[in-house]
Amino acid sequence: MKLKIATTKQEVALNFSRYLAILIANREVVHIALSGGSTPKIVFDELATNFQEDIDWSNVHLYWGDERCVPPTDNQSNYKMTVEHLLSKIDIPEENIHRIKGENSPEYEAERYSEILGEWIPKKNSIPHFDLVILGMGDDGHTASIFPHEINLWDSEKLCEVANHPETGQKRITLTGKVINNASVITFLVTGESKKEKVFEILKKEGNFKKYPASLVQSESGKVLWFLDSAAASMITPN
Ligand code: 6PG
Repeated sequence: MKLKIATTKQEVALNFSRYLAILIANREVVHIALSGGSTPKIVFDELATNFQEDIDWSNVHLYWGDERCVPPTDNQSNYKMTVEHLLSKIDIPEENIHRIKGENSPEYEAERYSEILGEWIPKKNSIPHFDLVILGMGDDGHTASIFPHEINLWDSEKLCEVANHPETGQKRITLTGKVINNASVITFLVTGESKKEKVFEILKKEGNFKKYPASLVQSESGKVLWFLDSAAASMITPN
């Protein structure tokens, strides 16, 4: 568990972008699962604005760790957010974008996307082996779209499951722990004061950490990196 703590969200985005540029440069073909939510927007803006010359996207394949079951034109779509903040601003082959089709029936799409992962991504332990899975963490300790009330989905035998948002009931498609933990590298992008308690509990294995899906993330290869700002890290760093 390695930590990279920056003062501001912008610096987190810069730190992560630098890390990503090196990771991509060191691989022939790269398979990356993106996270949704608001934190990645800052990273995508940084990549689109300041890393145009540093990253060759031609051999990068992009997937999503989770997606809301809404059309790709819906403002809640993680894909739509990624198009607006990144994909519309970089030169990446259309065929390298493997979006979760939120407009499909959830059960059908979970199955279809599992097959896509199997078709495109090399395997390790007979499981699709992402080079990088990028995750966020909710205030409740969820990650991808596995929430505490459905933490059992983490241990599903499937590669993708249908999840339900605890408040809105919104259906989501999510990768499961089986494929997330099989990744070569897993990075968390976590910023803001509202995350500090869960960051403390999970990283220090305190309190109810076992109830939080984010605490179940542990790459088989051992590389889990947390990119944090000082607000999110304020309970684990000395004053
Ligand atoms: C989503 C995300 C979700 C997100 C966390 C943190 O679809 O919402 O994949 O898991 O990473 O909710 O979101 P923020 O980074 O916006 O706090």
